[in-house]
Amino acid sequence: MKILTFVLCSFYGLQAYPQSTNFYGDILPILNKYCLNCHNTNGHGAMDLSTYNRASSYANMIYFAVNNRIMPPWKNENNDNFLHQSRMNVEEIDLIKDWIDHGLKEGEFRDIAYNNAQPDSFDLVIPMKQVFFPHYQKDFYDQVFVIELNNDSAYYVDKFRFIPGNSKIVRRCAVFIDTTSRSAELDKKDPKYGYSNNFGIAFDAFENYWFDWVPGTGVVSLPEGFYKLIPKNAKFLLKITYTNYANELPDSSVLLLRTTKKNIHQVVSRKLIYPELLNKPFEIKPNQERYFKTSFLLESTISISSILPLSQAVCTSWSIKARDPETNETTSLLEVKNWDPHWIRRYYYKNSIKLKKGTIIEASASYNNTEDNENIIMKPTRHLLHGYGSRNEVFEVYFDIAELVD
Ligand code: HEC
Repeated sequence: MKILTFVLCSFYGLQAYPQSTNFYGDILPILNKYCLNCHNTNGHGAMDLSTYNRASSYANMIYFAVNNRIMPPWKNENNDNFLHQSRMNVEEIDLIKDWIDHGLKEGEFRDIAYNNAQPDSFDLVIPMKQVFFPHYQKDFYDQVFVIELNNDSAYYVDKFRFIPGNSKIVRRCAVFIDTTSRSAELDKKDPKYGYSNNFGIAFDAFENYWFDWVPGTGVVSLPEGFYKLIPKNAKFLLKITYTNYANELPDSSVLLLRTTKKNIHQVVSRKLIYPELLNKPFEIKPNQERYFKTSFLLESTISISSILPLSQAVCTSWSIKARDPETNETTSLLEVKNWDPHWIRRYYYKNSIKLKKGTIIEASASYNNTEDNENIIMKPTRHLLHGYGSRNEVFEVYFDIAELVD
């Protein structure tokens, strides 16, 4: 039989994928690497792709989604230097297409442990204090949960993991740290557990976007010698984005941290790109396409460990580069060519990027406020100014940075 298969394949010129492309041998490992984080029996990605029967029943949709790079939803075009990056290579896409084009062969059963939980050492557990039932008015719903630590001295941490209580509905968690009473006041005003807010947390915290999770972020560790600070009497704000795939399901999520000693370099989340840097007002008129570009010079040597671009539905792309002061060469820090506000995420680098004093950071973003932009739900288009409401647009980038001494 093997010989016959081989002969037939050569006859039809199909050597690239001799008949053998099959689910368990070729496709499941790819789905495991890129898809099952979300598309499993409990995942929020609507459909379960973890079995042969399920995956093959969605074959045409899978073909379309991977061929057009709609899935996995990794929007950054830069390769190689990101942690847990999730961008399929052409060979993997071709294998999936080949499997679908050649009759969805099953192959020999193999079990795959897709949720390989690492027995990690986390000693600071920050759980939501109550179960929350999101109720949906639109496609996303954001709620900010305030968790008081009541710690009488600072903590230093170097490892982070977020565990969604209900992965069917939890789409993102942005963590902020507050040291004032602001968050508690907002919490009191909202009758439900936590308080609702569309973009951000309604004020500037001690540290905004201290940590940021989406499915696939996994465990994030800082390199040796680096730490993040939790100040005395900190309040953790977990801002969780829920989706409406299943109505009225409860959630109770947890943030896990590993404490360490106060080390050499403190990593802080800093907003380095914002509209005040532009030399023209940030404003987008109805039916207008706009391109905003800015640059600034680093006044000290820093290392960057992650990058979080923020904008809303009218944005279409982001590009961020670092220009070396001596060689004038640029390094790309982030390249998003098909911005989608549903997939805002913080991109953690595998290895921090060191940028010398004098480096120029260049950032640009494009916005399309015309009817052609599929992401704009409410049409006709509006006159947009900078802001965080659903009638505004945003031009901001946060970086996780540490100051280095040259
Ligand atoms: C980070 C979570 C996540 C990952 C990883 C992911 N998906 Fe999805 N996927 C979703 C969600 C959520 C939806 C529902 C549509 C949406 O919200 O955009 C979806 C929708 C889809 C759809 C329906 C397409 C549509 O237009 O609605 C297909 C097909 C699909 N995913 C296949 C895949 C495949 C194949 C992979 C891996 C190569 C993958 N997904 C990886 C979350 C994910």
